[in-house]
Amino acid sequence: MPLSNPYTPVKGRIIHCVQFPFEIKLFRIEASLEFTPGQFVEISLPGVGEFPVSITSPPHERGWFEIGIKKVGRVTSYAFSLGTGDCMNYRGPFGTGFPLEKMRGKRLVLVAGGLGILPLRSFIKEVLHTRWCESLTILYGMKSPEHMMFRDELKEWARQAEIIDVYEYGGERTGLVSNFIEYTHILGDEIVLMCGPPAMFKPAVKNLMKRGITPDNIFISLERRMKCGIGTCGHCIIDGQLYACTHGPVFQYSKCERAASSNSNG
Ligand SMILES: Cc1cc2nc3c(=O)[nH]c(=O)nc-3n(C[C@H](O)[C@H](O)[C@H](O)COP(=O)(O)OP(=O)(O)OC[C@H]3O[C@@H](n4cnc5c(N)ncnc54)[C@H](O)[C@@H]3O)c2cc1C
Ligand code: FES
Repeated sequence: MPLSNPYTPVKGRIIHCVQFPFEIKLFRIEASLEFTPGQFVEISLPGVGEFPVSITSPPHERGWFEIGIKKVGRVTSYAFSLGTGDCMNYRGPFGTGFPLEKMRGKRLVLVAGGLGILPLRSFIKEVLHTRWCESLTILYGMKSPEHMMFRDELKEWARQAEIIDVYEYGGERTGLVSNFIEYTHILGDEIVLMCGPPAMFKPAVKNLMKRGITPDNIFISLERRMKCGIGTCGHCIIDGQLYACTHGPVFQYSKCERAASSNSNG
């Protein structure tokens, strides 16, 4: 049987979409896709271009996958203009997901900044569905209460998880999400997943380590400019040796400390 070409996209029909404030849109794409939370797909729009995007729905939801897109430039603007019934082609899934086996039965802490909630949502929904962790704490930092995505789902999650929502302005807890780590019930033996803007990583890791968590138990998702998504073009190389698309985007913090501390995005 001939091997399928990893550059050939699959046609996906948009079967549902929801618009959030600040030009973010959630798309549900009809597909039969096996993936792990933390993985991404390349969205391919004929005649326009491609871009990588995290899968935000959990693997147990079958028949589709969801992505959340923020309109920032040429290709995401085109994607943003699409709606239910239109097609969005995809390649993937690509990259490493979150280390599920390492986390099974453990106490887990998730730190999300802004759009970082998108890949973590896939994990949260999966873990709450299968109930295979001992405890789950979610720190979610946003600019303001208006920036909150998945408000209703967060209320659901709060029944099984400790949720600490933090706002740069407005809201009950004001400040940077990294400064609220001290208000959690962390014991020091937890596994941490972190997704968000690069500036969040260093202060958050510092405060996690103050609570006894080791860099080996911290996993971050590093976003870099990507093209091929499969380790051939070299666009996403970090530290001269790691490919964000194939070795990552999820890395153990102890293995990518220098890259995580730089604000570079390729
Ligand atoms: C693994 C991975 C997962 C991602 N997941 C998501 C997601 O779930 N939702 C989402 O909306 N976006 C996500 N992104 C970012 C998304 O790929 C970019 O926003 C997109 O490529 C921009 O394309 P464009 O042509 O619209 O913008 P361009 O015209 O290329 O750029 C417009 C602006 O966006 C910035 N930009 C471009 N690429 C990136 C990037 N990779 N990271 C940060 N800023 C960028 C540029 O610096 C510029 O300021 C992810 C990126 C990676 C690598
Ligand atoms: S995106 Fe081409 S090597 Fe990673």
